[in-house]
Amino acid sequence: MVIRELTARIKEILRSAGIEEYDFDGSCIAEDFLGLDGTQLLLKADKQVEDTAARKAIEAAEKRATGYPLQYILGKWEFYGLPFKVGEGVLIPRPDTEILVDTVIEYYRSPRENMRIIDLCSGSGCIAVALKKNIPGAEVTAVENSSEAMPYLVHNARMNDTVLRYIKGDVMNGALLDNFSDPENVGEHIKFGCIVSNPPYLTKEEMSELQTEVGYEPKYALDGGIDGLKFYRVIACLWREVLEDNGLLAFEAGYQQCGQVAEIMEKSGFYDVTVKKDLGGNERVIFGYKSPDKEDLT
Ligand SMILES: C[S@@+](CC[C@H](N)C(=O)[O-])C[C@H]1O[C@@H](n2cnc3c(N)ncnc32)[C@H](O)[C@@H]1O
Repeated sequence: MVIRELTARIKEILRSAGIEEYDFDGSCIAEDFLGLDGTQLLLKADKQVEDTAARKAIEAAEKRATGYPLQYILGKWEFYGLPFKVGEGVLIPRPDTEILVDTVIEYYRSPRENMRIIDLCSGSGCIAVALKKNIPGAEVTAVENSSEAMPYLVHNARMNDTVLRYIKGDVMNGALLDNFSDPENVGEHIKFGCIVSNPPYLTKEEMSELQTEVGYEPKYALDGGIDGLKFYRVIACLWREVLEDNGLLAFEAGYQQCGQVAEIMEKSGFYDVTVKKDLGGNERVIFGYKSPDKEDLT
């Protein structure tokens, strides 16, 4: 079989299984399994493919045809122009999350004294790594609780030549804040200039109707409790303790949740709360700044 025939066969397997992006996915699988880029795939279209390589590529296409995510088949995905290793146990980075990264980078375009950033629910580390790469002088801490996700996070930081601080723990547990006790001021915490988070945010109802592809991703990365908002409540209230006055809190949320998240932030003592839209025109990112005196607002 020559490359042209193999590529056509792969695409046909995907098309007949109803995979919407069969052309794109088919090219990605052919390129990956033959170790070629898109141009080489065309230039070498008449080159013979070894039987083993062809069989493996066809098996991958058959797996994709069952709805298994392309990104897990390839074992890698790009986010913010950077490579990330992905696989079962870690959420696949989404292009919409780049808007969240943009929001934090934009904030640090003005000179800031406090360059400490914390990424809660870090997963693959896509947000933490992209921020570290794009904000000169940033000291980025990544918090994640999943034992499956943690190795991806560490690997991705190293693969992108970044140094992060990692904390494995449950962001819903106040004891985690002990990691940030200020050694010079007993009872006080070291403060961050920015808290960023793309937490699990699907509602109980959404969790029960997951699309096939998303169904392969870890439930723990998606489940935001009955109304999908439990992480926003806890982060805005509990984690504000480690955010400096006027510091930035920036979240990603489901497109129908931004209004509720904005309300949670305002009630928790954040001002200038703003909602931003994603690439598809849906509300996706909410950010605001910590009011120095929460007590005065209530
Ligand atoms: C929606 S994913 C986001 C991953 C990554 N930040 C991104 O944008 O692709 C949420 C992440 O939160 C982690 N997580 C879930 N519950 C957690 C908890 N209680 N404490 C810390 N991390 C948690 C999951 O393992 C998952 O990696």
